[in-house]
Amino acid sequence: MIDDDELIAAARAAARTSYSPYSGFAVGAALGFADGGIVTGTNIENASYGLALCAETVAVARAMAEGRRGGLLAVAVTGPGEAPLTPCGRCRQVLNELAQLGETDPQILCVGPDEVVRLPLSALLPHAFGPAAMT
Ligand code: THU
Repeated sequence: MIDDDELIAAARAAARTSYSPYSGFAVGAALGFADGGIVTGTNIENASYGLALCAETVAVARAMAEGRRGGLLAVAVTGPGEAPLTPCGRCRQVLNELAQLGETDPQILCVGPDEVVRLPLSALLPHAFGPAAMT
């Protein structure tokens, strides 16, 4: 099981490579897996603003491109704002795909400057549509 502090540190480190010249809002995400692995992502923006990729989505894409199909236990998300950063709606859905594949309900650590709000993904995305509904 991955330590919260380690996961948060990995998310913060990932935010340092953010490509976010348009928003100036650098986000980092770190996915913690049952085998002890951590996969990170950061937001990648585009001159065509609407094409921005969120940190969590980049992390999930990286993990799945490595062959991961489950085992997602925890996710840390960091941003520069005053409040703990809760994943956007699209990212909740993208995280849910990987979570449901492995039948886990990962803890989402929404990291702010002074506090960490910890919520299960099922609380952030109740009654989720996912791969289980396609069978
Ligand atoms: N962003 C993320 O990376 N994750 C989220 O959950 C919310 C928003 C990024 C997208 C954009 O590059 C910047 O933050 C401002 O919205």
